[in-house]
Amino acid sequence: MSSLPSVCIIGAGSSGIAGAKVLADHGIPFDCFECSDEIGGNWAFGNANGMSSAYSSLHINTSRERMEYSDFPMPKEWPDFCHHSLIKQYFNDYVDHFGIRERITFSTAAERAERGADGVWEVALSNGDVRSYDAVVVANGHHWDPRWPEPAFPGADAFAGRQMHSHQYVDTEGFDGKRVVVLGMGNSAMDIAVEVSLVTEATFLAARRGAWIIPNYLLGKPSDQLPVNPRIPFKVRQRWIHELVRRVVGKPSDFGLPDPDHIFGEAHPTISNYILARVAHGEVVPKPNIAALEGSSVRFVDGSVEDVDVVVYCTGYKIAFPFFDPAFISAPDNDLPLYRRVFHPDVDNVFFLSLLQPLGATMPLAEAQAHWVARFLRGEYHLPPAADVRADMERERQRMFKRYVPSKRHTMQVDFDDYLFELRRELRRGGERARRAGFALPVAPRARSVVSA
Ligand SMILES: Cc1cc2nc3c(=O)[nH]c(=O)nc-3n(C[C@H](O)[C@H](O)[C@H](O)COP(=O)(O)OP(=O)(O)OC[C@H]3O[C@@H](n4cnc5c(N)ncnc54)[C@H](O)[C@@H]3O)c2cc1C
Ligand SMILES: NC(=O)c1ccc[n+]([C@@H]2O[C@H](COP(=O)([O-])OP(=O)(O)OC[C@H]3O[C@@H](n4cnc5c(N)ncnc54)[C@H](OP(=O)(O)O)[C@@H]3O)[C@@H](O)[C@H]2O)c1
Repeated sequence: MSSLPSVCIIGAGSSGIAGAKVLADHGIPFDCFECSDEIGGNWAFGNANGMSSAYSSLHINTSRERMEYSDFPMPKEWPDFCHHSLIKQYFNDYVDHFGIRERITFSTAAERAERGADGVWEVALSNGDVRSYDAVVVANGHHWDPRWPEPAFPGADAFAGRQMHSHQYVDTEGFDGKRVVVLGMGNSAMDIAVEVSLVTEATFLAARRGAWIIPNYLLGKPSDQLPVNPRIPFKVRQRWIHELVRRVVGKPSDFGLPDPDHIFGEAHPTISNYILARVAHGEVVPKPNIAALEGSSVRFVDGSVEDVDVVVYCTGYKIAFPFFDPAFISAPDNDLPLYRRVFHPDVDNVFFLSLLQPLGATMPLAEAQAHWVARFLRGEYHLPPAADVRADMERERQRMFKRYVPSKRHTMQVDFDDYLFELRRELRRGGERARRAGFALPVAPRARSVVSA
């Protein structure tokens, strides 16, 4: 038995592989189970697990330099906003470079993860094995379980056309000459509306709320690389970026789109170089929300009616943990309160990677979170007292819910630079707490399963 706790990592997408690499660096014994036959999760287009939401034309909308892991840069000659195939290649290069591929058990799903009274986890795998671990790292992704409109629109069950979710969208095949409604104002809606509008007879972009749409570049730099100093109060930075977007891009209503009911930074960012031009060209026609589906027509809340062949719901995703008993750990309405989006307040040996929505990319955050977890499991970081953890969680939640427009997509928002800044600060504080406690292990190594070392 190792002198350090053993870990089960669930998933080998961009978060799980970062977790595996970091735990390996810290000498923590672990197994990593991946239900697919390859790594990369969402970025493995056409993934055999059926869970990837990538479409054929998908490019990253967070820039290459913001997305790369701290110790493995993407090739400088790659475009700032690469195609998904390069991103998948990058993740494969990463696991091979650091010798992580051999540490992943492929085509093996974690089907059930149960924590016993002694705190040891029992993990039942799709190959029939049941193994025990001292800790579980959850990296199963949160963009694979489609959220359809809730409740469904009146008449949806009798609609004569096709209804699909953006998760199912691959390319424009089947859209030629059709009349299509794309619903939503997030990034899926932008990409899909733009793309199908190249082949459809008519494309309508319906939304219940407007969004500030920012281009990939602002002031000659990738928009997510604009200087952001976490020491400058957020309100000041927000006002600056809001004014920049309003002056450089204009108001959505300048293009015929609904104006947002909020200022920039109060909703997850919508990034598109093309949508405003397609609207300006009349190739994408803005509409308010859908009121009802009526035979082969769609009626919108402003009373207008259009003949429609296909409705594409770009209405986001649900957080799901099919391996947990929902009474124990679940995220109703996408809400799972965690300490700094990693630690569960009641369960000291379950950790989450990338269970957040950053204004920025997820990969460096997952990597930093994994370092945090590793330091905790090694006894080099101790959490604040339970009451302080709860108070911090409550404060953060109140701040987030106050800032963001109410939506199931805004339950775990973080600001990229601020998050990393705070995490580093907390690591220093928790390191001091650990030192005072003699670097005692917060999670005892007790599980009996042999874990690949
Ligand atoms: C269309 C789209 C575009 C996006 N673009 C960007 C972008 O440009 N930049 C950005 O930062 N983020 C983007 N995102 C967010 C996206 O979630 C992250 O980029 C990234 O995929 C998160 O990685 P992950 O490893 O957490 O999850 P995933 O990529 O979903 O990987 C999860 C992995 O866990 C495995 N798994 C799941 N359940 C089990 C189980 N029970 N047992 C074993 N294995 C399991 C899956 O097979 C998968 O390999 C985008 C999301 C979508 C939908
Ligand atoms: N790299 C890329 O280019 C790219 C492409 C696609 C997606 N992504 C990422 O993937 C993630 C998911 O994006 P997403 O666009 O699929 O989902 P999303 O960000 O959750 O957006 C969902 C949209 O649907 C709307 N909506 C939800 N339910 C609705 C309903 N019942 N009626 C009307 N409108 C409804 C939401 O409006 P409200 O705001 O009012 O809730 C929102 O506009 C995000 O992190 C995104 O950045 C990235």
